[in-house]
Formats: sequence, structure tokens, C-alpha cells
Amino acid sequence: MEQTQDPADGTASLDPELGPTGRPLRDFPEPAPLRSHGPARVIALCNQKGGVGKTTTTINLGAALADAGRRVLAVDFDPQGALSAGLGVQTHDVPTIYDLLLSRQLEPSDAIQRTGVAGLDVIPANIDLSAAEVHLVSEVAREQILAGVLRRVAGDYDVILIDCQPSLGLLTVNALTASHGVIIPLECEYFALRGVALLIETIDKVRDRLNPAISLDGILATMYDARTLHSREVLERVVEAFGDRVLETVITRTVKFPDATVAATPITEFAPEHAASRAYRQLARELVFRGAVA
Ligand SMILES: Nc1ncnc2c1ncn2[C@@H]1O[C@H](COP(=O)(O)OP(=O)(O)OP(=O)(O)O)[C@@H](O)[C@H]1O
Ligand SMILES: [Mg+2]
Repeated sequence: MEQTQDPADGTASLDPELGPTGRPLRDFPEPAPLRSHGPARVIALCNQKGGVGKTTTTINLGAALADAGRRVLAVDFDPQGALSAGLGVQTHDVPTIYDLLLSRQLEPSDAIQRTGVAGLDVIPANIDLSAAEVHLVSEVAREQILAGVLRRVAGDYDVILIDCQPSLGLLTVNALTASHGVIIPLECEYFALRGVALLIETIDKVRDRLNPAISLDGILATMYDARTLHSREVLERVVEAFGDRVLETVITRTVKFPDATVAATPITEFAPEHAASRAYRQLARELVFRGAVA
């Protein structure tokens, strides 16, 4: 069994005034309203490890930013279509991101759907997208196709969030090439750090060869459980490795997420006062505070 009480041994990171990342807990200011909108800053939610919270973060950060008056476009860039399902939009018999990648005749607006959250739109995906890598391989400038699509809608949004699939293949390279920033969600579990070096190496290569402006906006610790020594140790290791690049906001593990998934709506709408909703609103404020979002 794992330890479930807080040991009262005075360890700095357990000081009540310090947050889980070992920095003083603070409340980020409420973002000021925007007077005008766009052009969007594009952020990829990326980690080739599966099940770390990329889709959950895209949905709930998107909803929290929309609640803060930002115009948000969420792009489903995973053939599993979990983002589209989580936001309750159509994925069959409608144009998807796959169609936009392959056809220059289609306008992005043909594929954009509204969600139940005012200010949050989505470009859906379905299993068709799994064929895209094969089709794009023979294209000219095959890494830049998504960037070309998103350029055409950037003026209408303040932020575009790309929910990547768990791989470092051509689709993810397209997402990184289209992005100004990357957020890496990391599950507070053993082996969380395995693979992150390769991901950062991939981002560095994209910066060298395709997209000099890309920056690492932050590493987001997810599924944190303060009651387990194990979770605290993993987070400590992550902070040791990445310092200030670890976002101060930490997403705790909660059973509410599967409920929100069934409801096909963000938890910030489904249970606005839940700790997880507060955490995603705090993440939105932190990203505005850090300048990652207007
Ligand atoms: N903070 C959390 N607490 C508990 N469960 C969570 C949390 N965040 C996400 N989950 C659940 O964990 C599972 C994986 O989350 P999610 O789909 O967001 O990860 P992902 O990185 O997008 O996965 P994939 O790599 O398969 O696309 C989902 O069932 C989700 O509901
Ligand atoms: Mg996902």
C-alpha cells in the first residue's frame, strides 16, 4: 500500500504555503477582457505517451479560455476523435480536419463546428485521419500542410489548441510546425519522464528545420494525487528536470473526468465548482499571465 497521509517531516515541498511544484501557491489574476480578437496563437498539446491528459486538457483549457472571453478553436488531430466526442460534435458525414488537409478547395469554415460552450469551436476528426500520414508523405512540404490550413482561420481566433495523437509521426510534426507553443501534459506516474527527452528532441528538430519560432510553453502535471508519496515523488523529479518550465498549475486525479466524458461536455460546464474545473480555470489564467495566450 502506498502512504496516504502527509508525513509531518517538514520537507520543503510539503510546506502548506507551497504548491505541489514546490513554489509558493498563488492565484493568477483574472485575464483582462480583449477589445479585439486574433490573430491566434497556436498551441499543440503533445506527448507521444498515451492517456496522459492531452484531450482532457484541450477540452477543459479550451472551455476555460472561452469562459474568459477568448475565442478558441480546438483542433482534433487524433483519428480516435476523442476531442470531438468529448465536445459532443458530429464526426460522420461532415467535413473533418482530414478533408482540410487533403483538399485546398474546402474552406476551414466548412469544417468548423460550434460547441455547447460559447466561444469554443472545433474542427473534428474521425478514423479517416489515420490514412492522412500515407497520403501526405508524397506531398510537397508535407510537414507544413496543417500550418497552411490554420493560417486561413487564425484571424478569427485568439488561440488555437491542437489535440495531438499519441505518436511522433508526420501528423504530430505537422502540429508542431503549425504551432507557436507546445504544452506537454505529463501524468504523475512512474515512467512519466520516459520518452520526454525524445519529444523535446523532436521539438528541437522542428525548431531547427521547420519552425524557428516554436517554444515550450510548459509542462503540465496531470493526474496528481497528493495523498500518494509516489505522485509527489514523480512531480519532484519532473520539477528537478524541468524547473520553471513546469507550470505551477497541477491537475489532480479525479473520477469526475470520465463522468464529463460521458456527458460530452467540459467538466468546467458540467461541474463548474469542482476542484478540477477550478484547476483548469487557473491553468487558463496562468497561461495568460505567462503570455502564452492573449
Ligand atoms: N485528472 C484526471 N483525473 C482522472 N482521470 C483523468 C484525468 N485526466 C484525464 N483522465 C482520464 O484519463 C483518460 C485519458 O485521458 P485523455 O484522453 O485526456 O488522455 P490523452 O493523452 O488524450 O490520451 P491519448 O493519448 O489516448 O489521446 C481518460 O479516460 C480521461 O477521462
Ligand atoms: Mg487524446
